[in-house]
Amino acid sequence: MNVPAASVSARRAPGPPGRWGLRNLAGFARDQLGLLRGIADEYGDVARVELLGTSYYLVSHPDDVEAVLVKHARIMLRDSHSVILERALGKGLLTSDGELWKRQRKLMAQAFVPRRIQSYGAAMARVTAAGLAPWRDRAVINLHQEMSRLTMEVVADVLFGSGLAPADVEQVRESMETVNEFFANSPEAITMLPAWVPTPRNRRVTAAVGRLDELIYRIIARRRAGEAREDLLGTLLAARDDDGARMGDRQLRDEAMTLFLAGHETTALTLAHTLYLLSTHPEVERRLHAELAAVVGDRLPTSDDVRALPYAERVIKESMRLYPPAWTTGREAAEDVDVGGYRIPKGAQILTSQWVVHHDPRWFPNPEGFDPDRWAGERAKEIPRYAYFPFGGGPRVCIGNHFATLEATLMLATIVGRWRLDLLPGQRLTFKPSVTLRQAGDGLRVQLSARRAG
Ligand code: HEM
Repeated sequence: MNVPAASVSARRAPGPPGRWGLRNLAGFARDQLGLLRGIADEYGDVARVELLGTSYYLVSHPDDVEAVLVKHARIMLRDSHSVILERALGKGLLTSDGELWKRQRKLMAQAFVPRRIQSYGAAMARVTAAGLAPWRDRAVINLHQEMSRLTMEVVADVLFGSGLAPADVEQVRESMETVNEFFANSPEAITMLPAWVPTPRNRRVTAAVGRLDELIYRIIARRRAGEAREDLLGTLLAARDDDGARMGDRQLRDEAMTLFLAGHETTALTLAHTLYLLSTHPEVERRLHAELAAVVGDRLPTSDDVRALPYAERVIKESMRLYPPAWTTGREAAEDVDVGGYRIPKGAQILTSQWVVHHDPRWFPNPEGFDPDRWAGERAKEIPRYAYFPFGGGPRVCIGNHFATLEATLMLATIVGRWRLDLLPGQRLTFKPSVTLRQAGDGLRVQLSARRAG
């Protein structure tokens, strides 16, 4: 007998009128963040939005977010838009479902156990410090570009070891940028145009993925031929599933590419947003620097330092609340399901939006204010679970969440310990979101002041 996963209520969720949602599409093109916030404000915690004939359900109450991501996880698939990511990621963890996902999640988890994550800390701080070498006192840098460069170098090192030649890192950076741009802004990605349609952008992204493939397969071959390293790829090469089987080359390639893409831009945005907030909140910056000076001093920060840096943790947490790098997490309902008293039909797309929930004044008084101390003591206890979910939740929660937190903390500590960053006049953080909360324009300009020789 087929037992329904949840008792399904007959209530239909409210939402803006219009079956084909052309007005919504225009609003979406103009201001995606504002449109979602406006819909949640007007129609409540479960709202239906039609967009080009597809029904989306925007779910905005923390309890309902938990229902979608955790309680009903068994009957949720990844959302239909993630198909386009397969162009670069193949069938990696982010883009697979069902049995393949289950097997891969178990295998990949072996590279993300606490002991292993701690061991990546030394490389995170060392590579960041080396990456700061070209910075000069009073120079002006592009904050977003620099954070992207630094996180790229860190992820490349942790994933593939320091065996990657500088020319390879540069090639990875360029190719990844082409892939990121494609997912971010291209009509080909939005309309999910097949790869064989020969538009210039389609050709460019296919070539970039080809170059990355060539590099990754070359590294895998070297490792299989006996070159042993204690990096993340080394752990994945050695990982065995319940039957003792290891990943094949294609699967390894898909996972390496997934970790690169999922792990690099999100952390770069976290750092850029945090440094922007510090430059516009000098009192917070002073407190953070004082904590770093007391705990870390002149040396490089280590994994062990992190638990002695509670203020740094709060600063990063609050930055990810205000500007969540992953601003929506989507699912597709595999069965009819009841969420918050409304019926969501099989096949509908469900959106939980970190952007909407993290700015809800019911859970975060003065939601637009940057207030790291809201995460301290009793105040933090009042925040409901799933009012804050920068890494998603449930069985598909970001596998890199502890890795990313360690990385962001160590990178921030390395940077803020050595440099003060001042936003140039007239610079404002504005967004043009895609899969991630990308900035509009080509990045903020900040001026560097050396705190001491580096
Ligand atoms: C601040 C940084 C990061 C943020 C905000 C972030 C956020 C997220 C979110 C929201 C998801 C989707 C969760 C869901 O669907 O419930 C996700 C999935 C994922 N993330 Fe992250 N992430 C970050 C860093 C990283 C890093 C550093 C790595 C790897 C080194 C990584 C690897 C992944 C992978 C592989 C998945 C797919 C997991 C699955 O479907 O089983 N992420 N991430």
